[in-house]
Amino acid sequence: MKRVDDFRLRFGKQELVPIVVGGMGVDISTAELALETARLGGIGHISDAMVQDVSDRRFDTSFVKEKTKLYKYNIDNSDKSGVKFDLGQLAEATRLHVGKTMEAKRGDGMIFVNCMEKLTMNGPAETLRVRLASSLDAGIDGITLSAGLHLGSFGLMADHPRFRDAKLGIIVSSLRALQLFLRKNARLDRLPDFIVIEGPLAGGHLGFGMDWAQYDLQTIVTEIAAWLKAEQLPIPLIAAGGIFTGSDAVSFLENGAAAVQVATRFTVTHECGLPADTKQEYFKAKEDEIEVNTVSPTGYPMRMLKSSPAIGSGIRPGCESYGYLLDGKGNCAYITSYNREVAAHPDDKNIVVMDKTCLCTHMRNFKCWTCGHYTYRLKDTTRQAADGSYEILSAEHVFRDYQFSVDNKIALPV
Ligand SMILES: Cc1cc2nc3c(=O)[nH]c(=O)nc-3n(C[C@H](O)[C@H](O)[C@H](O)COP(=O)(O)O)c2cc1C
Repeated sequence: MKRVDDFRLRFGKQELVPIVVGGMGVDISTAELALETARLGGIGHISDAMVQDVSDRRFDTSFVKEKTKLYKYNIDNSDKSGVKFDLGQLAEATRLHVGKTMEAKRGDGMIFVNCMEKLTMNGPAETLRVRLASSLDAGIDGITLSAGLHLGSFGLMADHPRFRDAKLGIIVSSLRALQLFLRKNARLDRLPDFIVIEGPLAGGHLGFGMDWAQYDLQTIVTEIAAWLKAEQLPIPLIAAGGIFTGSDAVSFLENGAAAVQVATRFTVTHECGLPADTKQEYFKAKEDEIEVNTVSPTGYPMRMLKSSPAIGSGIRPGCESYGYLLDGKGNCAYITSYNREVAAHPDDKNIVVMDKTCLCTHMRNFKCWTCGHYTYRLKDTTRQAADGSYEILSAEHVFRDYQFSVDNKIALPV
């Protein structure tokens, strides 16, 4: 019976344990989690989501305070078009977060940054260019493009000296999205080094509509693998979404994938950035407490715990401080919903907004509990104390369980 450890992901001469811990913004996949994954020989991800806030918390900078001060005059104004990011500060924050992580890296694995196109930051192209270039400047091993089709993202990096040496890949959920990406980038003569295929059971935003349940990850992997073979494009495929045991992973490694990307099982590790009490909520979750909804202003469905404090919260939009989801014209679907509720209930102190959520503020405060479909199985991966609380795991324990387990077994902590 095979184990994940019987396989290797190859990038040229480099061999890795074929386990990728996926990016989880905002700072849920911390530097500590990525570093531990790299130390163990896999690929870890940090995320550049809300990187100025992450930098403030980690390195005592004051990017958010400065932005808030600059735009304070606009807080009561529903027009956010003038609230822009300072590109120099964005570059500085990204270089700090990525650079400090890479300085601390040990072991044979790699660290990538997850870069979401949907963080349009009231200036989609220019802010994305700065994010990508600054990560490359700071020595990141690779970039995983996510939450978007990224038709122009390779072009934004093409003049960077590391464009052809860093490992660059994209997350797709369909062959069509991959074909579009490859067609748009053909002129750059630079293929992606890897393709993450994310199925409908993943955490975070989904690359499917509300009919997500009709899709199946293995079917999409098989379809993409066959097409790449026919096109003679030998690009490693990384399967993601709902891979809960080492045996699940082996099944993908035997059927077209060169590696697996996992996340949910790491949300309850010490190294994960979620607060301790939120990790307990993840452990406790039952199957019917996990939903895919449309409250994210990005327009993508998102999976989360129904009990997320973000759902129904009607806080004032925090764009003067954050503003990561403002499109190029200063709009965000949450602002529209919030204004509608304020107009409908002018005398109410507590505004309730059900259809959208202020994702920046709530992700930043760990109040939007996004999670994978199998979160309800996390309680079976640990021990429960007499007081009902669950034992938090080490990332090493979970990583090694994926690497060495057979027969769908899950090792409990010693
Ligand atoms: C808490 C959480 C946050 C996530 N955030 C992001 C994100 O910011 N960007 C992204 O591309 N994927 C995100 N994901 C998706 C993961 O990177 C990964 O591909 C997927 O969840 C793997 O499936 P699994 O959780 O069933 O193992 C997130 C997943 C979780 C569980």
